[in-house]
Amino acid sequence: MITIRKATKNDAQACWDIRNAAINKGCAGFYDAGDLLIWTAGELTEKFSRIVDAHFYVAELVTEESQDKKVVGTAMLDAPYAQLDALFVSPDAMGLGVGKALLKFIETMAFNQGLAQLRLESTLNAVAFYRSCGFGGEGLEEESVYCSPRGIALDCMVMYKNLGRPSAC
Ligand SMILES: CC(C)(COP(=O)(O)OP(=O)(O)OC[C@H]1O[C@@H](n2cnc3c(N)ncnc32)[C@H](O)[C@@H]1OP(=O)(O)O)[C@@H](O)C(=O)NCCC(=O)NCCS
Repeated sequence: MITIRKATKNDAQACWDIRNAAINKGCAGFYDAGDLLIWTAGELTEKFSRIVDAHFYVAELVTEESQDKKVVGTAMLDAPYAQLDALFVSPDAMGLGVGKALLKFIETMAFNQGLAQLRLESTLNAVAFYRSCGFGGEGLEEESVYCSPRGIALDCMVMYKNLGRPSAC
C-alpha cells in the first residue's frame, strides 16, 4: 500500500539518498556517466534539508511481509512557477505505481490551489513516463537545458498538463 504525507526535516537524509539512487539508476544511459556522478555527489546539505522540510511530500510503502513503512519516493510543488519538482522513486520501488501516485497527489494539490496547468522539466529518461500520465504540450513541448550549480548541463524536456480533467494515467 502506498501512502503520501508531508515530509519533515527528519526525512531529509532519506530524500537525499532516494534522489541520488533514482538519478543513478533511472538516468543511466541517457546522460554522460561522469555528469551523473557529479550531479549526485556529496553529502546532504542544510539547504536541501530546508527545502524538504518546507515543500517535499514523501510516499511510503508498506510491504505485506514486514508491515514496515518505508519512504520510497519524493515530490514537491513549486507553486509560484506552477511546477512539479523532485519526483524521485527509490530503485527498489520503481514500477510499483509510486511515481504515478505522487504525480496525481501533486496534480490534485496544484488544482486545489487554483492552478490551471502544471509544468515540469523532465529528464530524457522520464519523458515516456510523463507522457503516459497525460503530460505533453499541445504544441508547447520544448527542449531545455538544466544547468546544475555543480557546473553540468543536462538536456531536459519541458512538458505541461492542463489540470482538472480526468487523469489519463
Ligand atoms: C520516472 C519515475 C519517477 C517513475 O516512477 P515509478 O514509480 O517507477 O513509475 P510507476 O510505477 O508509477 O509507473 C506509472 C506508469 O508509467 C509507466 N512508466 C514508468 N516508467 C516509465 C518509463 N521510463 N517509460 C515509460 N513508461 C514508464 C509505467 O509502466 C506505469 O504505467 P501503467 O500505469 O500503465 O502501469 C521513476 O522511475 C524515477 O524516479 N526515475 C529516476 C528519476 C527520474 O527520472 N525522475 C524524474 C525527473 S524529471
